[in-house]
Amino acid sequence: MPRGDNVLLWDVQVKNNRRERVDISAFSFVEFSFLTALRESTYWHWCRFYTSTKFDPTLDAVKYDYHVFEEHPKLKVIFSSSQKAASFDCDRSSFLGRRGMPDAPESVLNGRLANRELPGGGFAVGALENRIELAPGESTQFVISLGCDLAWEKAEDLARKYKVPEVAQRELQAVKDYWSGFVDVFQSELPDVELQRMINLWNPYNCSISFNRKKSMTGFTTGMEKGGVQSRDSSQDSMPLVSLSTDLARERLLLIYRFQMPSGEFYSTFDPDAGKPADYYAVRSDNGVWPVYTTHAYVSETGDFDFLQTTIPYYEGENATILDHMAQSLKHIASRRGKNNLPLIVDIDWNDNLYIFKVDGKEESVMLAQLLVHACRLLGEMAGRAKRDDIAAFCEGMIAEMTHALNGPGVWDGEWYRRYIFSDDRPPLGSSKRREGKMFLETQVWAVISGTADPKDRARLCMDKAREILGTRFGLKLLFPAFTGIPEPEDPLYNNGPGIRENGGIFHHVHTWAVMAETMLGRGDRAYEYYRQILPNVASKTRGEDVYLNEPYAYSSTTLIDPDSRPGEADMAWFTGTVAWMYWVGTQYLLGIRPVLDGLLIDPCIPSHWEGYKVNRKFRGVLHRITVKNPSRVCKGVRFITVDGKPIDGCVLPAVQGKQEVAVEVIMG
Ligand code: GLC
Repeated sequence: MPRGDNVLLWDVQVKNNRRERVDISAFSFVEFSFLTALRESTYWHWCRFYTSTKFDPTLDAVKYDYHVFEEHPKLKVIFSSSQKAASFDCDRSSFLGRRGMPDAPESVLNGRLANRELPGGGFAVGALENRIELAPGESTQFVISLGCDLAWEKAEDLARKYKVPEVAQRELQAVKDYWSGFVDVFQSELPDVELQRMINLWNPYNCSISFNRKKSMTGFTTGMEKGGVQSRDSSQDSMPLVSLSTDLARERLLLIYRFQMPSGEFYSTFDPDAGKPADYYAVRSDNGVWPVYTTHAYVSETGDFDFLQTTIPYYEGENATILDHMAQSLKHIASRRGKNNLPLIVDIDWNDNLYIFKVDGKEESVMLAQLLVHACRLLGEMAGRAKRDDIAAFCEGMIAEMTHALNGPGVWDGEWYRRYIFSDDRPPLGSSKRREGKMFLETQVWAVISGTADPKDRARLCMDKAREILGTRFGLKLLFPAFTGIPEPEDPLYNNGPGIRENGGIFHHVHTWAVMAETMLGRGDRAYEYYRQILPNVASKTRGEDVYLNEPYAYSSTTLIDPDSRPGEADMAWFTGTVAWMYWVGTQYLLGIRPVLDGLLIDPCIPSHWEGYKVNRKFRGVLHRITVKNPSRVCKGVRFITVDGKPIDGCVLPAVQGKQEVAVEVIMG
């Protein structure tokens, strides 16, 4: 598909390897739809008569006119061949035959199409016959195109344009150039080719698809409804985009801030086209931390500190700077707290499935407190740079207060962190006092990432316990034991069955945070092991394609695990927060090439058997050719760094001025 045209092209090349002349026919065929999955599956009997399909001999094209009078754009669809069409068909019944199937259409078996139009509608198809006569050794090439536009004139222009095979080839090259440019920002040479393949190509590609087509962004996933943008998911999906496609990330971030209320709260879902929040509104109390993470990522990537002073209005409110938007958001989260001084879930936090545990909304969320601390650290750094001492002081105070609260006896269970704490005397979620849901992964990983757990003591202990209790050969379970009933085993079960998704499945999104946490603890062998467990190209091989069942090049959201009967089966590929976080954690924490406000931090945490690796990273307009050497086979630790042969102090490469590229050598040890 060319970047700028609504057209799908088939570039067909035929060569005669026989000793004699051949005279053959090539048949191309498409079945036209009713343009949305809803109409396709429910209204087909009615929609089909609101179409008309005809043949245009001047363009060798079948033209499909879709004129259902409601809602949808009345698309003009054109299916054409660059060579002369010897015959055509517009009617599925005559093309396939009364009992024909697409693998052996009757008219193809007969060697000729029926030249039948469907001006009054019906089950419309486009089928064309191309006659090919070739002498021995001779070859030919033709292009089949399927294009559409709102106006016939433009749709016809598309067909005309792609009658020239060279034009199609030029466009294909342009598509290739575009994607090379897109992934160019981070290219690696690693001792692990599977990892390299994901990091260099498939993961960034998946990031782009997820950013543009995530389940709630368009009707893409279901083909039916259009949900809108989710402030929480979309902020996270934008994190890798700050390097891959900076302008798009910035634009999305500004859009998200436009749907922040003056109180500081973010609308969970909104429709950017209609400029309105979605009708359904549950308070996802974590919404407001993620835009802070992405803003920090954006400023670190670009060095564009002015962005923080950009003013935009709150939704139906006054103008405020981005810095104030962020501060307002975190203050709002901090303003609703419970008896342990932790923020309240209100309706739900990051884990949507915990909604069913809501009793009075006064449940305290340990994870939200940890997320808040991390957000305060990032905002504090940015506020410091912007000389906003008021905001910096708030952040500092909140970090101290929350760190204290998070290590209180009501939160620490003895060997790990609890998850939800109820306002009455019900046993907390994630507590050994429960029969089910004794331990959750989210609060162990975020205890480490937020820096609220003592790194020598609780941080290691809770991650070791997570490995012991939640670890499986496919990854870490989100919780254990999975719920068979809620709140008690004898109660009914809502939502996912045990071992599936948030109910104790291997939830890849959280799993990526476990990788990040292990790198922060310096345990590269473990981090790498976890990372590889959910690499789709590795998982589909080691588990077996028939077990894994998802594509081997796109991230899946989850892996089913016991007590479910299909352990190892992956679910929901392409659209998951896993995509953004795998790229983030892989490039920035494992390979350790991490933009920070001051420049480019080099802080790898790799498996101890790696001798080294190379990364070409474009950062703030300069290509950094980075070579990492690991002569003493450590997981973490940088002995020294040189830039163009000159040693630097510390591990942060300051932004380079006046050069197109620099050579960076990193010696670990
Ligand atoms: C899904 C949702 C996301 C949520 C997560 C955990 O991925 O899209 O918003 O945070 O599940 O429940």
